[in-house]
Amino acid sequence: SDFPVVVPAAGVGKRMGADRPKQYLLIHGKTVLEHTLLLLLAHPRIRYVVVAIDPQDPYFDALDIADHPDIKRVDGGKERADSVLAGLQLIADQDWVLVHDAARPCVRHDDIDALLALADQHNGGGILATPVRDTMKRASEQFPDRVDHTAPREHLWHAQTPQFFPAGQLRQALEQGMAKGLPITDEASAMEAAGYPVQLVEGSEQNLKITRPDDLALAEYYLSRRTT
Ligand code: C5P
Repeated sequence: SDFPVVVPAAGVGKRMGADRPKQYLLIHGKTVLEHTLLLLLAHPRIRYVVVAIDPQDPYFDALDIADHPDIKRVDGGKERADSVLAGLQLIADQDWVLVHDAARPCVRHDDIDALLALADQHNGGGILATPVRDTMKRASEQFPDRVDHTAPREHLWHAQTPQFFPAGQLRQALEQGMAKGLPITDEASAMEAAGYPVQLVEGSEQNLKITRPDDLALAEYYLSRRTT
């Protein structure tokens, strides 16, 4: 079987300090968003993509992919979770759905395959993630530039996307999390709060999220080397 993807792309990317949202910066003459969407659609088990775009966004309609038959646009919302919920409205509750950041154009197809395998394992959904390599310090609440303690890193992971869940459960978890005012920075955090299991599937550090200016050069490098 094959799967739909929701891509939240309605953020402004403040940390990038660029003149436009980071998903519209160029790599090899193509926007980050186009790289991400075309890479997803090139995966043999991905059927279509729903992309959440800010209703005031002046950039999307000018892209070559704006009329792509397998790309459906919806209006994004105030928070990332609003944008994902808007996308989920186009997806049947019985389906499994991938959610993937617009700003991660380097995800590997092999890693997507490993994540999709969760659908047959009956242990719930999950996320791509990488184990933390650095020693992790928790800062003091009172003095934010002072170490309070060292957090043991052996059980710490960096959460990435795609994140892969049954669409109905994810919708319910996001709605519930928003209603409770929980900080929802990824889909898994809403699923965890709702009591659903979330599996960690080890991915690759290549799957970076473009956040700061240096990340663009790194993504360009990874994309120039890839074969799938
Ligand atoms: O800000 P951050 O890097 O965590 O954003 C992750 C993704 O969520 C980005 O692709 C961004 O465009 C998207 N987003 C969204 N709607 C918002 C905020 C962020 O679709 N209101």
